[in-house]
Order: sequence, then C-alpha cells, then structure tokens
Amino acid sequence: MPKKPPFFKKKNSPSKNGVCSPSHLQGVPVQLRIIKMVQGGDGMARLPDGRVCFVQGALPGELCEVELTFQKKDFTRGRVVRVVEPSPDRAVPKCPLYGKCGGCSLQHLDSRKQAEYMAQVERENFRRLAHAELPEDFVIHTGSPWGYRNRARVVPQFARNGECSGFAFREQESNALIPFGNCPVLTPALNEFLQGPARKIFGSGSLPRRPARPGDVSLNVFDNGKGEVSYYYRGMPKEEFEKNAVSVVEIEGRKIESDASVFFQSNLGLLPELVQSVRRAVDEGLSNGNACNDWLIDLFSGVGFFAALLQDKFKRVTTVERDDGCLKHAKKNLSAKDSGMASVENVSAPAEEWLADHVVDIPATLIVDPPRTGLPGEALEAIVRSSVKRLIYVSCDPVTLSRDYAKLAMAGFGLERAEGFAFYPQTPHMEMLFVLSR
Ligand SMILES: C[S@@+](CC[C@H](N)C(=O)[O-])C[C@H]1O[C@@H](n2cnc3c(N)ncnc32)[C@H](O)[C@@H]1O
Repeated sequence: MPKKPPFFKKKNSPSKNGVCSPSHLQGVPVQLRIIKMVQGGDGMARLPDGRVCFVQGALPGELCEVELTFQKKDFTRGRVVRVVEPSPDRAVPKCPLYGKCGGCSLQHLDSRKQAEYMAQVERENFRRLAHAELPEDFVIHTGSPWGYRNRARVVPQFARNGECSGFAFREQESNALIPFGNCPVLTPALNEFLQGPARKIFGSGSLPRRPARPGDVSLNVFDNGKGEVSYYYRGMPKEEFEKNAVSVVEIEGRKIESDASVFFQSNLGLLPELVQSVRRAVDEGLSNGNACNDWLIDLFSGVGFFAALLQDKFKRVTTVERDDGCLKHAKKNLSAKDSGMASVENVSAPAEEWLADHVVDIPATLIVDPPRTGLPGEALEAIVRSSVKRLIYVSCDPVTLSRDYAKLAMAGFGLERAEGFAFYPQTPHMEMLFVLSR
C-alpha cells in the first residue's frame, strides 16, 4: 500500500465535530485530479479518503498540487500551489491583483471558454437543485470579456496629507480593502474617472478629507454607456446629486433615467440582448394567449427599466420596487400620456407586500427580477395563487433561481425557455432568464 502523504496522518484527521484547524494543514500539498467545475468557479476533486475538495483556481482535467485551507467531515477546500498538468483552456490572468482581489476569480480560464464551462455548471446546478434538466437549446449570450463593467462601488484611499490617493474594492466576504490602479473589467471611462477627477471629490467639498475610519466612505460610479460618468456618495449635497449623480442611459433608442445611488444593470454592452429576449418572451405570451395585454407587472423594477421598454404593448402597467430612490425615475421613465395607455402605477414597496395586498386575478404579464436572494417566500406563494400563467424571471443568481423554480414547478409551472447572459466575464457570476408557463 502506498505510504499516505503527511496530510493524512492521524493528527490531521477531522476532530470530533469534523473540523480541523487549517493551521495543521498548511504547507502540506496533496496531488489531486480535478473532476469538474462547480458553482462559484472552483474545481472539484476527491481526496483519497473520498471527501470532496473544492479547489480555487483549478480547471477540470488538471492535475494540481493543492494546499488544503479548510476541512469539514464531508468536504474540504484548497488552493492550487502548482499546476502539474494544465488544461489547454488555462490562461494567464491579466490582472496583477488576481488571487488577491476576490472579484475576478475566473481569469485563469480562457475568456473564450468561460461561457461553455458556465453552461455545464448551470446544467448540473439545475439538475442538483431543481431535479430537472435545462432545455437542450440553453445558450449563454456573450459580449466583451474585458472593459465591460459600467458600474462599481469603490472605497477612497487617503494619503497622509488627507488627500485622496486612489481607490480600493471592498472584498465581499472579508470586508478587506484591495487598492487597485487600473481595473481591466471596468469600462475605460470608469478607469479614467477613478484615476483622475474622482480623487478630487473627497476633501474638496462637504466631505471630511479623511473619514474617521478607513473604508467608512464609499463611492458609486456609473458609466451610462457613452463614457459619461456619474457618481454618488452618502451625504452628497442635493445640488451636487442633481448635477453629478443623475444619468440617462439610451437603450433601443429610448432614454432611461437613473442615478448612481440606485441599482442599474452593470453590463450595458450585453443588456440589449437581454432586453430582446425579455421582449420575445412577452410577445410570445401575448400572441399565444398565455398572457394578456391588459396588465404588465414589473416586480423588483428598479427605475422601471423593463416596463419602460415594454409599456407600449399594454393597457395598464405597474412597477414595484422597494428602494424609494428609484421612484422619481420610474415616474419619469413610464408615462401613460406619452404612450396612450390607460394607467401607470409606480409603487414604492416590497414586492411581497404589494402582492399580498393586490389580487392578480387576470393572466397578467409578469416580469420579476429579484436580487441575489431570489423571490421572497410570500411573493412566490402569491404568484402561485394568482391567475398569472406566464412568468418571466430574470435572475443574477442561478442557485436561488433553481430553488425558486423547484417550488414553481411543484405548483404547475413548466420551463419553456432558459437563456444565460455572460454579464460578468472573468467572474463565476451570470445573469439568467427563465420563461415559465402553466
Ligand atoms: C436585480 S435588481 C433589478 C432592477 C430592474 N429590474 C433593472 O433591471 O434595473 C433588483 C431590484 O429589486 C429591488 N428589491 C430588492 N428586494 C426587494 C423587495 N423585497 N421588493 C421590491 N424590490 C426589491 C432592489 O432595490 C433592486 O432595485
């Protein structure tokens, strides 16, 4: 029998509660063959004792030397120390902060292959979580792999003299700050803004030069797709807000107003393809009688983005959004008088509360675009109880989408079409569209 590598010596075995101190494991690499990529972009392998190991920075098929960083009774995590047999799809990460900044953790995979790998991950994800198959024709729409991101939140960094010296990203999980110079996924206009004019925002006006604690202030920046940058920070004076935070995006020849304090889609290059797919889903429902043109309901509507682009097809439109900073824009973006519609309501409320108070007793056309957490339980139940027969579900998290789909399927909804949109290249995130009907 081959001698066990040091990692498998008894002192490194899981303790009673299944957890080992990572410090025992450091510096003891183990060779693993990567089986597949999983949700989140890690490679998955099996340790000789059968436990799963999620390996950061590894690709399917590769043989890697892996340092374990965490272990539990049923799974472990590790990172690549050396790639012994690389995949032909391996790429050299473009950003010097790869591995430090948690943002673009998929840079080791050739940009041209990312959609293909993600499609496999999503197929398996859906099988595991929803116990169903994604349709055969599931496709992922792709756009520019770099310089695509038109929206970011950054944290100003300050020099000793109190002047802003640059910006950092905040790592989501640890809250750590990662200073950066030029970020290759941000649009050129955002990079230029952050390297120049943005530094003057701090210390020049109403803000203290240096916040009480580093990281207390953050700056939202938004490029409207034409290289015009707007920005927002908390406490921004009203006059400065009106002048510098508000922006107008043009999609399909229509002007949509927003501002840098609220949600807006962050890949304007690929957004028209998502809009076209949503429009197609709406048109199909109207023409096959699965949905009616009496009422369009856009839930989690932000500034009324989808409703504004589709309103001309409907007699009545309702947008529902929790963030009341969106309301004034939604009112401007949707106007009954411009389109000759009977009515437009822009509601500022949680979607689940609005659904609880309003009976949807006609087969209205319903679009939902919830945050990563997916549909709140009450919202999902209200949709199931309603007369809606066609649901157009836009999601930025395939995991919660699969979970919600499983519940909707039990209530009789079937999956008519699924499409992916590579809104966040170099990261393991993706936008999805499901068209469901019953
Ligand atoms: C993914 S964004 C979509 C926005 C919009 N559809 C768009 O494309 O611009 C999700 C939106 O849902 C809002 N939101 C989050 N939870 C909500 C809730 N419980 N009820 C209503 N809106 C909510 C957020 O403020 C955000 O604007």
